[in-house]
Amino acid sequence: MFSLETKVALVTGAGRGIGRSIAMQLAAAGAAVMLNDLDPSPLEETRDAIGRGGAFAGDITDPALPGKLVERTIQELGGLDIIVNNAGYTWDSVIQKTTDEQFQAMLDIHVVAPFRILRAAAGYFRDTAKREAASGIRVQRKVVNITSISGTDGSPGQAGYGSGKAAVVGLTRTMAKEWGRYNVNVNAVGFGLIGTRLIQPLSETSKIDVRGREIKVGVQQAVLDKVVAMSPLGRVGTPEEAAGAVIFFCSPLSDFVTGEVLMCTGGMRF
Ligand SMILES: NC(=O)c1ccc[n+]([C@@H]2O[C@H](COP(=O)([O-])OP(=O)(O)OC[C@H]3O[C@@H](n4cnc5c(N)ncnc54)[C@H](O)[C@@H]3O)[C@@H](O)[C@H]2O)c1
Repeated sequence: MFSLETKVALVTGAGRGIGRSIAMQLAAAGAAVMLNDLDPSPLEETRDAIGRGGAFAGDITDPALPGKLVERTIQELGGLDIIVNNAGYTWDSVIQKTTDEQFQAMLDIHVVAPFRILRAAAGYFRDTAKREAASGIRVQRKVVNITSISGTDGSPGQAGYGSGKAAVVGLTRTMAKEWGRYNVNVNAVGFGLIGTRLIQPLSETSKIDVRGREIKVGVQQAVLDKVVAMSPLGRVGTPEEAAGAVIFFCSPLSDFVTGEVLMCTGGMRF
């Protein structure tokens, strides 16, 4: 139905989980994909599985990284047509136990880093669109930001995460308006429960390493069961299903859709 051959995509958090599935599906549709992840070893695994494109390991909350990542993508892969701001993690606790560092970290990863990536791409998007318009052609480019039901509906224990995920919706709708003139579709996909390490049952092993700090991730089994029972489809989604909603926004099928948030939750609302 469509091909992404000739397109260059950039996917953050592509080492595992949903980002990995997004990168694999973009590559399967023909795109050259620049992969980014904090963790070099899963990043290399994704790169090996795809067998082409580029890989750039690093922390996207490092203020200098977004600029370098965008520059490297354009230099190595010859352009930039699709950006998927996917990297993220949870750092949960009730508000009275939430530190300033923790709250700020959730804003940094979920909205500040996407903002910096889009800002870094702005010059390329504008100049390229102007050149294309001068030659009488219109090329739609795509930005997909990842949000969550926690940002749209709220979720206890996630003041920071929910705020970051809500903020990315504001960024999405603003950029849709700023960049319509450059033919860039800017949309967001909000997930419910998708089967990755972020929703593993809470236990001693459910910790992730973020810049040397061990952060507990996961969901209590009872909460997971309750949420799944509330969901019309009655199950957790797979990373491949999550990626499907993102691919819609990366493809020509969504060329006349911008500023929207597509909820990919199995029909569940909190
Ligand atoms: N899994 C769910 O149920 C769910 C629900 C709603 C939203 N989301 C969102 O989906 C996105 C993907 O999450 P996932 O479930 O695949 O998690 P995951 O942990 O499986 O994958 C996320 C990837 O992002 C990377 N990452 C984290 N911080 C980074 C940083 N600073 N720089 C670069 N890379 C970084 C991690 O190393 C990891 O490989 C996140 O934005 C998450 O908030 C997930």
